[in-house]
Amino acid sequence: MNEHDLYMNDFMKVYETLEYWGPGSGTDTQKALSCIPKAPTKILEIGCGKGLATKVLAEHSEATITAVDNEQLALDRLTHRFEQHGMSERLKTVNASMTALPFSNESFDLIWAEGSAYIMGVEKALAQWRPLLQKNGFLVLSDMVWWTNVRSKEAVELWNNEYPDMQLMQDRAEQMIQAGYLLLDHFPMSEEAWLNYYGPLKEKITELEPEMPSSVALKDIKHEVDVSTRFAHEFGYHMFILEKA
Ligand SMILES: C[S@@+](CC[C@H](N)C(=O)[O-])C[C@H]1O[C@@H](n2cnc3c(N)ncnc32)[C@H](O)[C@@H]1O
Repeated sequence: MNEHDLYMNDFMKVYETLEYWGPGSGTDTQKALSCIPKAPTKILEIGCGKGLATKVLAEHSEATITAVDNEQLALDRLTHRFEQHGMSERLKTVNASMTALPFSNESFDLIWAEGSAYIMGVEKALAQWRPLLQKNGFLVLSDMVWWTNVRSKEAVELWNNEYPDMQLMQDRAEQMIQAGYLLLDHFPMSEEAWLNYYGPLKEKITELEPEMPSSVALKDIKHEVDVSTRFAHEFGYHMFILEKA
């Protein structure tokens, strides 16, 4: 196994048993959904992970949901989750890349992307996903943003490395408007969302450290958890609710 494969293998070992693959909570998902002025009928969720938000969207709407991820393990967990709750007939999972989505233009009235647009770059996502929305359709996405221009050295070093395109919240909002969307609403995600992700992640690292003492991936994730805990007042996840203008 080369260095990159080893890193990815260790990375997956940490994440495979975790439910949240990014900060999120049912309360925040529901709050964002309630900001949309029209009941959705066809939702496309991009980077759905194991489908915790997907379940909330299904429970609080009557829409059919197409859930996309490129990690089959996550899609299988989501399928199982919907089977358990008797909601399978409203779900279609698609293993595809968010950069090459296999759907016709104007297929959806709502696109949902929690913690995933950053992977291809938010500006690119705003441009590439927009044609998939029907006229006056909605896009909801969450993104890690800076709250302040007063930033600690540790936080700047971490995010320059992990997410160099991270923006001040107001600048990200302005990019959304420039990309042809109306900013209907936005809010910082709750502490609960932060803890749902970083809590179990921290526990997993403690559990795996004895068996993976020299893992670079584990060391990197531990560093992110540490900085994200100590400097949580400087940055965090923010939910944006947009309408195609
Ligand atoms: C940070 S996780 C967020 C997952 C989920 N929305 C959540 O909040 O728990 C990002 C997700 O995007 C998926 N992903 C990564 N690269 C992708 C790509 N190129 N196309 C589609 N999905 C991708 C990952 O497998 C993962 O499930």
